[in-house]
Amino acid sequence: MDLKFREMTVEDLDAVYRINTQSFTTDAWSRNALEREFKLPYSHRIVVEAEGQVVGYAFVWLIKEEAFIMTLAVSPEWRRKGIGRWLLKRIVETFKDKAEVISLDVRKSNIPAIRLYRSMGFEVVKERPKFYSDGENALMMELRLDKMKTDVEDKGKEPEPADRRGQYKEEGEGTREGYREGLR
Ligand SMILES: CC(C)(COP(=O)(O)OP(=O)(O)OC[C@H]1O[C@@H](n2cnc3c(N)ncnc32)[C@H](O)[C@@H]1OP(=O)(O)O)[C@@H](O)C(=O)NCCC(=O)NCCS
Repeated sequence: MDLKFREMTVEDLDAVYRINTQSFTTDAWSRNALEREFKLPYSHRIVVEAEGQVVGYAFVWLIKEEAFIMTLAVSPEWRRKGIGRWLLKRIVETFKDKAEVISLDVRKSNIPAIRLYRSMGFEVVKERPKFYSDGENALMMELRLDKMKTDVEDKGKEPEPADRRGQYKEEGEGTREGYREGLR
């Protein structure tokens, strides 16, 4: 499948609005809210095209070193074909040199999205009670790009014996959480 990732234009708004209302219920964005994004200097608006039509989109806010995925969706008839993962990968590539972290909020019941984010290395960092207007909790998830860069730089470098012992100690003695906190 030939996919194209490009900046959204106002001409895309009909398609984006349609996908948005098909994808979300109480938290679907109004047409005004979508249009407002074009006036925000920190808003990055992205669409995915397949066979010449818009099949997915994302709005990402970049504020200081944090990229926040405000909303992201794939058209219902184009789901489960790898487009969501492809879009997310392109977002990570786009922001990896601009941000230290990519974060988002997702409904706790949204298993497809949570699985997608986890498969890309996102981790749950916080639960936000009654975040949505219908009372559902949100999970705040994030992908640390600074950590990814460190991992890439370290790749291929054989750890010193002392470091290896450290790793075993963390896993064996249950201090991994503290170690991860230390990385943040
Ligand atoms: C979440 C969403 C963007 C995924 O898009 P997609 O193009 O269907 O996703 P992909 O085909 O790339 O699937 C990637 C992974 O997501 C997970 N996934 C996607 N749909 C799933 C489903 N219905 N059930 C379980 N897991 C699912 C799987 O882990 C999948 O990997 P796999 O195919 O190797 O098992 C899409 O379902 C969507 O638009 N949902 C409505 C809007 C939404 O919830 N957006 C996220 C808001 S935070």
